Amino acid sequence: MVMIMLITKYIFEPISEMKKAAEQIKTGNLNYPIQFTEGNEIGEFCKEFDKMRIRLKDTILEQHELEKRRKRLIASITHDLRTPLTSIKGYVEALQDGIVKDKETYDKYLATINEKSDLLNHLIDDLSVYTKQELGEFTLNIERIHSGRLLNNYFNHKQYDFKYSDIELVLKKPFISTYINVDPYRMTQILDNLLSNAKKYARTQIIVSTKVIQYHLRISVQDDGEGIPEDFIQNLFDPFFMVNKKKDQKEKGGSGLGLAIVKQLTEAHDGEILVESVLDHGTTFTIEIPIDR
Ligand SMILES: Nc1ncnc2c1ncn2[C@@H]1O[C@H](COP(=O)(O)OP(=O)(O)O)[C@@H](O)[C@H]1O
Ligand SMILES: [Mg+2]
Repeated sequence: MVMIMLITKYIFEPISEMKKAAEQIKTGNLNYPIQFTEGNEIGEFCKEFDKMRIRLKDTILEQHELEKRRKRLIASITHDLRTPLTSIKGYVEALQDGIVKDKETYDKYLATINEKSDLLNHLIDDLSVYTKQELGEFTLNIERIHSGRLLNNYFNHKQYDFKYSDIELVLKKPFISTYINVDPYRMTQILDNLLSNAKKYARTQIIVSTKVIQYHLRISVQDDGEGIPEDFIQNLFDPFFMVNKKKDQKEKGGSGLGLAIVKQLTEAHDGEILVESVLDHGTTFTIEIPIDR
């Protein structure tokens, strides 16, 4: 009698339980946990079977998440590419129609076309990093670069973009002159993202400064904008994250990819990104890159 009860408990019950679970999995239900009694081979087998179910479930969830991200990416690419293109086309048509008579407006329109084209370029660069990273094909072309030269070249050129802007770009020169091992193109991409964010949110000015701290070069981009609420700081570097989706997307032409790319690129250079923000006063993004000693 005891023997029969034991056989039922340790053999028949687990087998029937596993049969039920297998049927559930067959119909696509991966939420059915197997009840099993440990202690013998069949119990062990059930345990492994259940682990397999959990792994399968996780893989499927991961795939769903990936699929969702991909769909969001396509939706945001379409939106982000269309906005500057529509505006470029509008300005080009205005210039073609000959409605612009004075030199100043003409130059302003050209500057806007130039700015919107830069925005497109910048967006395509970010998307390229993001997709390459997803595919595991992202690489850096590291060169030993003189930081002062890189920063002077980059920011002196950027001054032109502020010629018709209400915002002033203040460069705290001289920039630190040292050597860093970076991919110059990717460094430009990091700075482009930080500067374009600062330009979107600043009220009157953006200050760019450099410093050396513990064998790292610090580059800071500080704006006097609305700031970022503390609760949002921890998600700031997540892909597609925006503090105020409607406003950021519509008024500022954002996609939420920029800072995720900046973080990824900075870390790929063994660096770090820091953010300090005070509501109503402004935000400072700082990147730290190791100095070549
Ligand atoms: N300098 C800044 N001041 C205030 N908010 C900012 C600043 N930089 C970024 N943000 C917030 O962080 C979000 C994510 O930035 P980012 O990843 O560059 O995306 P995007 O610029 O495409 O919106 C922005 O949508 C904005 O809400
Ligand atoms: Mg941005």
